[in-house]
Amino acid sequence: MGETTLPVNEYVEFWNDTLADKFERYREILMNGLSLHSRIPLERLEVAPGSRILDVGCGWGDTALALARMTGPQGFVMGLDCVDRFLEKGRQDAAEAGLTNVEFVDADVETYPFKPEYDLCFSRFGMMFFQNPVVAMRNIRKALRPGGRLVFIVWRDIEDNPWLGVPKQVVLDFLPPPGEDARTCGPGPFSMANPDVVSKQLEIAGFADVRFERTDGPVIVGDSVENAMRFQLALGPAGEVFREAGEEAERRRGEIEQALRDVLAPFEEQGRIVMPSSSWTITADNPG
Ligand SMILES: C[S@@+](CC[C@H](N)C(=O)[O-])C[C@H]1O[C@@H](n2cnc3c(N)ncnc32)[C@H](O)[C@@H]1O
Repeated sequence: MGETTLPVNEYVEFWNDTLADKFERYREILMNGLSLHSRIPLERLEVAPGSRILDVGCGWGDTALALARMTGPQGFVMGLDCVDRFLEKGRQDAAEAGLTNVEFVDADVETYPFKPEYDLCFSRFGMMFFQNPVVAMRNIRKALRPGGRLVFIVWRDIEDNPWLGVPKQVVLDFLPPPGEDARTCGPGPFSMANPDVVSKQLEIAGFADVRFERTDGPVIVGDSVENAMRFQLALGPAGEVFREAGEEAERRRGEIEQALRDVLAPFEEQGRIVMPSSSWTITADNPG
């Protein structure tokens, strides 16, 4: 186990008791299938050798390892996530790669007692799930030295992300939307899609010079129609509708699975299901 500073947080609990198993089952899709959205920003990112870098909501740690290579042996990366099971994969991969300048810590970003020691905070899809986004952003700013930079990737709206929107609509043709008190992963994958809202949140948290850069492109959401269909029923907006509908969902499972196969099949390219997607890479500076 890593160092633990977990408070009771309903979203952190949900990540651990419900999502972690499902995420592990579909790791290939989540870690590699969506990686276009970190590959492009990481190629553009300038990292001075010896930089100290924080990767928040780092999951299995592949971006933390990429950053560890970029900063080199004089630098350091801390990968932080609230699911220690994910971090174990990062620790194993770092050991296998012989990378000694990266550490993985099990903690809640909102409350971790950061010191202002990092030059860069990076996150791929790890910022959209906080109980209080401004509190988390303010805490992340505490981790940055004056002049330090925050670079994070979030999904744009569901309309710009057919890989999530199309399956959700299919499931909603059969089942009711989730109720108000549905258990969730937090504000959710589209909670930072609106640049005006996120700019305001970052400003309130003390960041300056907020910029948005759009990445559009294909994501691989399964190595077969069947696998893509199962992924959609397990996770994301379609999975949430299905999970929350309980017995009714199970009763209609056959019809829903077939409708999903029908809608996913046209996206097959050389045996893989490839769908359009869109993200923001958001950059903001800590003025000090
Ligand atoms: C969509 S996943 C992205 C994981 C990884 N960055 C990637 O792209 O594969 C979101 C991650 O944020 C983590 N997370 C959510 N809320 C968190 C919190 N309050 N503190 C730390 N990590 C959190 C989850 O455990 C999960 O690993």
